[in-house]
Amino acid sequence: MTAVHRAVLEATGPVLQFDQPTGAFVGRFDIPVVVNLFGTTERVAAGLGVSPDELDDLGAFLAALRTPTPPSGLREALSRWPMLKAALSTRPKLVKTATSQHVCHSGTDVDLSRLPIQTHWPQDAGPLITWPVVITRPHGSEPDAAQAYNAGVYRVQVLDRNRLIMRWLPHRGGAAHHRSWAQRNEKMPVAIVLGADPATLLSAALPLPETVSELAFAGALNQNRPRLSPAKSVPLLVPADAEFVLEGWASPSETAPEGPFGDHTGYYNPAEPFPVMHVTAITHREAPLYLSTYTGRPPDEPSIIGEVFNRLALPTIRAQIPEIHDLWLPPAACSYRIAIVAIDKRYPGQARRVMMALWGMLPQFSYTKMIVAVDADIDPRNWDDVAWALATRMDPGRDVMALDRTPMDYLDFASPEPGLAGKIGIDATTKIGSETLREWGIVMRETNADHAFAEDLVNRLMPELRA
Ligand SMILES: Cc1cc2nc3c(=O)[nH]c(=O)nc-3n(C[C@H](O)[C@H](O)[C@H](O)COP(=O)(O)O)c2cc1C
Repeated sequence: MTAVHRAVLEATGPVLQFDQPTGAFVGRFDIPVVVNLFGTTERVAAGLGVSPDELDDLGAFLAALRTPTPPSGLREALSRWPMLKAALSTRPKLVKTATSQHVCHSGTDVDLSRLPIQTHWPQDAGPLITWPVVITRPHGSEPDAAQAYNAGVYRVQVLDRNRLIMRWLPHRGGAAHHRSWAQRNEKMPVAIVLGADPATLLSAALPLPETVSELAFAGALNQNRPRLSPAKSVPLLVPADAEFVLEGWASPSETAPEGPFGDHTGYYNPAEPFPVMHVTAITHREAPLYLSTYTGRPPDEPSIIGEVFNRLALPTIRAQIPEIHDLWLPPAACSYRIAIVAIDKRYPGQARRVMMALWGMLPQFSYTKMIVAVDADIDPRNWDDVAWALATRMDPGRDVMALDRTPMDYLDFASPEPGLAGKIGIDATTKIGSETLREWGIVMRETNADHAFAEDLVNRLMPELRA
């Protein structure tokens, strides 16, 4: 299924449903597997309830939400999405009969091996749930205080019939909630939602402002109050319309080695200890579907989602570093390890200032090990453009800035020590003022009239060239 999914995703193909998945030891499952839900930018935008053209505007709205006194450009974005703004403060709707709870297996009837959970890559440690929305709440919160909930996508390894491992990285919301319970030596209630609606899946993966609840945001995108229902065996509310919900408790102290699993870097991660969850109930719809995906060397679904999310983040980044004209994090470079930034350059040294601002002011760039700065006439998404800028505007002796012992993603085994690594900034902008003593070249450009004339002529006389 992973190989078929990958081939179809690379060809920007459709959502796939495998009707009769089979397992190595268990034979045929009666639950179909759905993959490639977010295999194209258009489908990610649709999941957010917008067209691809509206993404920049939605990004401006998110930037305005983060800014206490938004500047006029962003204030406009807030007023263009009045429904969304209002919906963020509405309360969830409590539903008595939830479709996600149509069937309930609890106690000794819990058996995760009945779900067609994929083992994606040959050296994976076992079955891995790749699209879970993990719902938690902090210690001391009320079960029905949904505003306090965190919803995050953290991969989940299946250990046996009723035990799972949740791999929330230490800075994630789920991990922070778990610490709040573990400090008091108490187990934490957890609900893992499988096959949530697209807006909930994307909201759980999106780095939203602290003050915005993922479930409320998903409801706002869906233009409905989020529909929740009390879980059957733990004190939590769960989405009423999902395909499955796995309920249980995360132990305050029990851990198990998670992995190895093939990851978004294109390599297997080493095994590491993460908390164990004991599953007390599995609820599901009638005739449910199991939603899955793989992670691997890009492209994979998370890299496509990441590209859309980076576009949404641009107005937030610009609010802090206004001279940024455009920014691209190539998905091929694991979605965050290389950044190409185009700036409106006005003074000497500005490219270096922007690089340091990206690394220092914005936490999401701490793992970006290379930044290339170009002028605003260069399209950062076009490697030919970037190569031309590097070839004509950059001197390796003068324009390269190297840093040492900065924070790094521990998954980067190329760094000399886990979590500590170098960074490189390459200034491929036009050198101005005291940056150069040489007379700089003049960029050749045809006149607009000549360009339009040539385009028209080619279109008319050689239409096959434009086909
Ligand atoms: C398919 C997919 C898998 C992911 N797997 C993990 C994971 O295993 N661990 C993790 O910490 N984050 C993972 N993420 C990223 C988080 O879901 C994302 O950063 C989210 O914003 C975290 O939410 P939080 O800030 O509320 O913790 C994954 C994202 C996607 C789309």
